[in-house]
Amino acid sequence: MTEYPKTSALMARGCEFLGTEHAIMCGAMSWVSERNLVSAISNGGGFGVVACGAMTPDLLDAEIAATKEMTDKHFGVNLITMHPDIFELIDICGKHRVSHVVLAGGIPPKGSVEAIKQHGAKVIVFAPTLALAKKLLRSGADALVIEGSEAGGHIGPVSTSVLAQEFLPELAKDFIVFVAGGIGTGDMMAAYLEMGASGVQLGTRFACATESIAHSDFKKAFFRAKARDAEMSVQIDPRLPVIPVRALKNKGTDAFSDKQREVAKILDSGEIEMAEAQLQIEHYWAGALRRAVVDGDIENGSLMAGQSVSLVTEEEPAAEIIAKLMEQSEAALKRPSRAA
Ligand SMILES: Cc1cc2nc3c(=O)[nH]c(=O)nc-3n(C[C@H](O)[C@H](O)[C@H](O)COP(=O)(O)O)c2cc1C
Repeated sequence: MTEYPKTSALMARGCEFLGTEHAIMCGAMSWVSERNLVSAISNGGGFGVVACGAMTPDLLDAEIAATKEMTDKHFGVNLITMHPDIFELIDICGKHRVSHVVLAGGIPPKGSVEAIKQHGAKVIVFAPTLALAKKLLRSGADALVIEGSEAGGHIGPVSTSVLAQEFLPELAKDFIVFVAGGIGTGDMMAAYLEMGASGVQLGTRFACATESIAHSDFKKAFFRAKARDAEMSVQIDPRLPVIPVRALKNKGTDAFSDKQREVAKILDSGEIEMAEAQLQIEHYWAGALRRAVVDGDIENGSLMAGQSVSLVTEEEPAAEIIAKLMEQSEAALKRPSRAA
């Protein structure tokens, strides 16, 4: 008998899909989601996801091996679709028999979903529109994450609440759908589960877990921040299709505007193509995030954070955060106003 009967019943399909006790995913966070946090999430009953980011195949190989040393539970690997070595990275996941691969950052390249499935792994995708979500799910993807603009990191333009109302009624009966963006408490989790989500994905809430290797200054910036401090980046030049990023406002946010101007100028000069311009912007973010997470440079680095940062007030072990989310969700679902 589970401690959280109502929540667990709503999560049953998600748990079966992930092979976990609770259908709570910790979304991959570059530099943050490495062996320590990923294993702590999975050992705590959730589902940790290694962020491959810009890692080389060799680095990913070592990271997966190290994570497996720290947990015998399921965990996933998040691969960015524009990574130049994406197929090699897929083979590394296959070599380690990684159970789930998450494809993030764009439309999966041709053959990538099939390549992952050939290794026997399940494929989780993101989709910004309902039409694309249906296409991906019908052509082999096993599950979908819908992520709203409240989230930390790279974001789309639509809020989680609206995406949930658009996608869940159409997809939740036949497919596994996880909801992400702006979830900081079990109350919110319960609401999306009741709407048909199979589970949820959180990032910001887990970034400051005790096991997260993020620098203590990075964590302190999160504890101080209000929801309104997690701002969306501004697009300086309409010709340069920069994916917006939500992060705590600092000098790094302004430096990003300068970077966009610089890249737009060399794009105009014909020195680089659009794809290269976009890659330069992505490398900029990876470097800036590393400066904040690893070096603790919270002035000039990127403090990627979602609006739910206001609900992150102290360092807690990942397993306690998961237990708290489950308790809050269960209490919400048992409220008399919800009684059948
Ligand atoms: C610091 C940080 C780094 C992130 N890096 C990535 C990433 O590398 N790849 C990715 O797919 N999502 C990334 N995300 C998004 C998370 O995986 C997750 O979907 C998101 O944080 C969920 O919304 P929330 O922040 O409101 O909880 C990042 C989020 C944060 C806060």
